[in-house]
Amino acid sequence: MSALFFKRFLKRPFQIASIVPSSKALVERVANKMDFSQRRVIAEYGPGEGVHSRKIARRMTADSHLLLFELDGAFARDLTRQFADDPRVHVIHGDAATLPNELRRRGFPECDYILSGIPFSILPIEKKRALLQKTYDALAPNGAFIIYQVTNELKQHATLFEHGESEYFLQNIPPMFITVFHKTPSPHRRGRRTAKPKRLSGLVGVGTDSSA
Ligand SMILES: C[S@@+](CC[C@H](N)C(=O)[O-])C[C@H]1O[C@@H](n2cnc3c(N)ncnc32)[C@H](O)[C@@H]1O
Repeated sequence: MSALFFKRFLKRPFQIASIVPSSKALVERVANKMDFSQRRVIAEYGPGEGVHSRKIARRMTADSHLLLFELDGAFARDLTRQFADDPRVHVIHGDAATLPNELRRRGFPECDYILSGIPFSILPIEKKRALLQKTYDALAPNGAFIIYQVTNELKQHATLFEHGESEYFLQNIPPMFITVFHKTPSPHRRGRRTAKPKRLSGLVGVGTDSSA
């Protein structure tokens, strides 16, 4: 598995952005941010060789669904093979930005959780904002967007989420920020919530907890 990861890194270093998969400890920590006690629709951006996907699939209920969005063809083929016997897992060889279409195609109105391992920090700003908007729109009220990244720069851009909390997690090479953005829409708010383009700091309602 790690050999495949390293080979794909050599092929597309900026897209893969890491030479090893997430550590067992990081996978456990991220999975513990989700509540698997009932049916969930979960999307994962950039599963790579599937280290988080396998954990989620093991924990989720028999009627839950997991949609995996992977740009890299070799990873997507490998994921398709790994989950061939699990009808709850849907492997999409494509961009995370196709999430709304893929949900619609399968008749899922929304996601409870969206997990991301893609290198958001190197996405062009417009692509980053567009993906954040699609992510927010696809989440159910009270759903959460969970990311793990080397930097915490996405917090500057994810202004459309009502609340977020981060921790710096050292048990991974390299250490990662794990951030959970919560969608908790106010019942009084009207219209579609959109990110404010120029706002680069001082997030309203987004706090940072740096306990690792
Ligand atoms: C750092 S790796 C993370 C792999 C895995 N989640 C892990 O934790 O070990 C990033 C992955 O995101 C994928 N990726 C990058 N941009 C993407 C995009 N826009 N849509 C879907 N996958 C993407 C890459 O191909 C790569 O597999």
